[in-house]
Amino acid sequence: MKIAIAKEVDAAEPRVAATPDTVKKFKSLGIDVAIEPGAGIKSGLRDADYEAMGAVVSADAVKDADIVIKVKRPEASELAAYKKGAAVIAIMDPYGNDAALKALASAGVSAFAMELMPRITRAQVMDVLSSQANLAGYRAVVEAAEAFGRAFPMMMTAAGTVPAAKVFVMGVGVAGLQAIATARRLGAVVTATDVRPATKEQVESLGAKFLAVEDEEFKNAQTAGGYAKEMSKEYQAKQAALTAEHLKKQDIVITTALIPGRPAPKLISLDMVKSMKPGSVLVDLAVERGGNVEGVKAGEIAEVDGVKIVGFPNLASKVAASASSLYARNLQAFIETLYDKESKSLAVKWDDELVKATALTKDGAVIHPNFQPKA
Ligand code: NAI
Repeated sequence: MKIAIAKEVDAAEPRVAATPDTVKKFKSLGIDVAIEPGAGIKSGLRDADYEAMGAVVSADAVKDADIVIKVKRPEASELAAYKKGAAVIAIMDPYGNDAALKALASAGVSAFAMELMPRITRAQVMDVLSSQANLAGYRAVVEAAEAFGRAFPMMMTAAGTVPAAKVFVMGVGVAGLQAIATARRLGAVVTATDVRPATKEQVESLGAKFLAVEDEEFKNAQTAGGYAKEMSKEYQAKQAALTAEHLKKQDIVITTALIPGRPAPKLISLDMVKSMKPGSVLVDLAVERGGNVEGVKAGEIAEVDGVKIVGFPNLASKVAASASSLYARNLQAFIETLYDKESKSLAVKWDDELVKATALTKDGAVIHPNFQPKA
């Protein structure tokens, strides 16, 4: 069996799907590995580092590969070089991209979307949403610190005292928890909010203060899958009223609120942004799904009355070496479930729940139930 590590064609994507460590693991299982030249360089990994672990560096790496691994979904131009029947594994961004899914099917490959991996204990090591969101949460605080004209920690000096920055985190999933922890390490005074009651204890255990409308609806806001529900108009109004007052006193706001399969909830209106002190900074991690903050612009730092709104998408890629190392490990663990050690060949178990949850295409068709063409 042969695995190919493809170089990302998107110049703005510095991550890579394998590291020398995961190559070493593949080789130890008897798998051949080929890598396109320069695939890892933006994550600080040289061709020679992969070669040292037994990978073949070749511009034709994907030719004849049984599995092609990538960070982002391959484009039609890339698919042309892949073997029919090859497994292609990446972060596929399948929602609302029907034409791209059709192209994957037409190429005859079996495409797997890593972000659809079920969040069950067995698949924790394969959870790309967590591995990347964790780094994005960290990076959001670093971006905020960069854009903020003051220091985060309290400093008592002979020339006077610098007060600690006040940081408010909205949405306390994986990214939000890491943002709280990072802001605390930098010495900020941190508050946080979420609509899931389970988050209250998590926030407090990190030394931050929890703030939320804790009514009956809040008590039932968590789905069986551990995700948030879309809240009623009434709840949203109460939430907005509570946060509006709080926002006026904050220096930094990090928003991470998402609801699966829905646009990001609008948590901060333009009026709320304008009510903040000049020099305050908002970092909107939900920007790729429409944003939590009104006025956020993807890829930019927007300014409203002296308040900055940071709208950088894909923040994990700004910590590319760390993000690649975790992503590569996520992929390696999944690939081990697709490999038969006895016959040393690709052996996809199509009835395995991990495969059923992630497989998008097979034998020329889109097979995932969530992405069937509309009748
Ligand atoms: P996410 O990225 O889908 O959403 C981020 C946060 O936004 C969530 O905490 C959500 O409750 C919150 N949110 C939604 N609407 C909001 C609103 N109107 N106001 C304030 N906050 C709002 O969440 P993520 O990071 O994917 O985590 C979701 C759940 O999955 C969590 O319970 C997490 O602990 C769980 N999880 C489980 C794993 C496992 O392997 N069992 C692994 C990783 C996460």
